[in-house]
Amino acid sequence: MIRSLAPEVVNQIAAGEVVERPASVVKELVENAIDAGGRRIRVEVDAGGCERIRVIDDGDGFLPEDLPLAFASHATSKLSVLQDLDHIATLGFRGEALASIGSVARASIRSRRHDRDAGAEIHCDGGRIGEPQPCGCPTGSQLEIRDLFYNTPARRRFLKSPGTEKARIQELLAELALARLDLDLTLVADGREVLRLPAGQSLTERFASCFGRELARGLLPVERAFGELRVEGVIGEPDLARRDSKLELLYVNGRQARENSAVHAIRQAYREFLMGGRFPIYALTVALPPDQVDVNVHPRKAEVRFLESRKVAGCLHETVRAALQGRAAAASAGGVALAPELPRARSGFPDLPRDLFGRADGGAVPEPTAATSAPPVVVRDGADRPPFGHKSATQDPAANPDQNAGPAPAARPNPFARANGRFLQVHDLYLLLEGPDGLLIVDQHALHERVVYERLRAEHRARAVTVQQLLVPTVVELHPGEKAWLLEVAEDLAAEGLQVGEFSPSAMAIYGVPAVLAKTAPERLLRALLADDGADARPRLREQISERFHSMACRAAVMGGDRLTDEEIAALLQAASTLEHPHNCPHGRPTVLTFTHGELERYFRRRC
Ligand SMILES: Nc1ncnc2c1ncn2[C@@H]1O[C@H](COP(=O)(O)OP(=O)(O)OP(=O)(O)O)[C@@H](O)[C@H]1O
Ligand SMILES: [Mg+2]
Repeated sequence: MIRSLAPEVVNQIAAGEVVERPASVVKELVENAIDAGGRRIRVEVDAGGCERIRVIDDGDGFLPEDLPLAFASHATSKLSVLQDLDHIATLGFRGEALASIGSVARASIRSRRHDRDAGAEIHCDGGRIGEPQPCGCPTGSQLEIRDLFYNTPARRRFLKSPGTEKARIQELLAELALARLDLDLTLVADGREVLRLPAGQSLTERFASCFGRELARGLLPVERAFGELRVEGVIGEPDLARRDSKLELLYVNGRQARENSAVHAIRQAYREFLMGGRFPIYALTVALPPDQVDVNVHPRKAEVRFLESRKVAGCLHETVRAALQGRAAAASAGGVALAPELPRARSGFPDLPRDLFGRADGGAVPEPTAATSAPPVVVRDGADRPPFGHKSATQDPAANPDQNAGPAPAARPNPFARANGRFLQVHDLYLLLEGPDGLLIVDQHALHERVVYERLRAEHRARAVTVQQLLVPTVVELHPGEKAWLLEVAEDLAAEGLQVGEFSPSAMAIYGVPAVLAKTAPERLLRALLADDGADARPRLREQISERFHSMACRAAVMGGDRLTDEEIAALLQAASTLEHPHNCPHGRPTVLTFTHGELERYFRRRC
């Protein structure tokens, strides 16, 4: 039997599209405040907006006689006929937001226009709209939303922790704020001011106050006009690139909106400057005649469509490309040489990730000419032989013959335990050792990673992590989502020896690190820990934190490209001789390559 649904049900279903989480409510309310001409906007949230959201603006206010319609669906003051959509200059246009919010929460509006002596208020509880009542209030509007999703428990269950929702709200406000530097915006969460953005900041200043001060020095302002189309904003230096795309911020005529071909074009322009898997950061505005954009293509107004999308993509690409190349040219004109590519080992032996060597904190970059003229590995006529790793395993007389199938079988003897203690460091990357079976070439970084990894694991198993307290805590500026996640898992981290705590609304402080990792800059450790996942995966990771922590921490291990002292090498080899799994680093790369006596003799034609 087909029935028409009751209007409340219709609205609750529609609300599913508009109101996904507290941040969507904040977005709609702040956009309304902006549309109403508000210049000072204050957002207050309690418990991540799940309990209460209040948005106060100093805009025009509601006409008292309009109030009964405010929570009605398809009721708007911003458009009356379809053609209006072609030149829409407001952020809202559907007349849907308040109706949706009012149907899934307890909402109220108090508002007074500048030309009226008194204000009026109206309530809407789960879609039941009350009668407007006179009330005293300042000019402008104040919307309050309590108990979001109280009548749609399924939705409520999907809410994340208050900390995560709060972080999302903070990100969202920051994103809105970048499009409107003339707004004065404040976010207060649980009674504490967490974001304060005064009107008149420059885009760079605002970007930095929203997403971390250390970003400010790496933002390049851009501005280009292509006929009626203008591109303007800031783009981040390639070394600011992130593992997620959260700071790819694109605005179209003042509205934050994604458009795939535009985003793709910008990434293309960055491509030659970025490592794979990294996303650039930028805040770019495209301004073009409103009839060239369709804003009505996404239920949360999060996407737009361009009439001439290729043209827009081309303009964005050109703007970003020119800025990045101009910057590279300026850098080399100033006598700054780009670090040369690391030489590839001819053996095809896996290359180490570049950032371990290109780093600024003192690690020496291997001398490229020396390395190229003297390849690190003996060139061998090995066409008929199995690849290196397996070969050394099979020809190792002590090795069990069926061990060349899998990586690092536990039964294989520990080569470091058998080495005679003499060594030579080459290229600050490799160690040559003498063992009873032949010559060992060790990747010092991979080996160090393995040692650190096993120690951490042992300490963890024994529940005896040694913590190195920092004399002066290290303060790290973070993206709100990253910070929220850290706060959430702080206890688990502490159990692993990493002691972090809140320092300011946008920063965390590191108070202690696991002693095994004390050689690594604490900030680097923290960032390595954050780097590996998109924010959405993070909450789930809480359970696996110890595992992750180990592998992240190892990734941050120093020692590739470091000239080691003899004592350090001896200590490393000593530690290696007791490893459970000495043959591979925790990410699977080999730690050691063995050239047996037999191979060396054959190569030098001492024996056929
Ligand atoms: N803060 C405010 N100050 C003054 N008027 C407001 C405010 N918020 C909403 N309004 C009025 O209420 C109407 C309904 O708001 P609502 O957000 O539901 O729809 P909209 O903004 O017109 O469209 P959309 O659904 O796309 O947001 C608006 O058209 C506007 O006239
Ligand atoms: Mg609206």
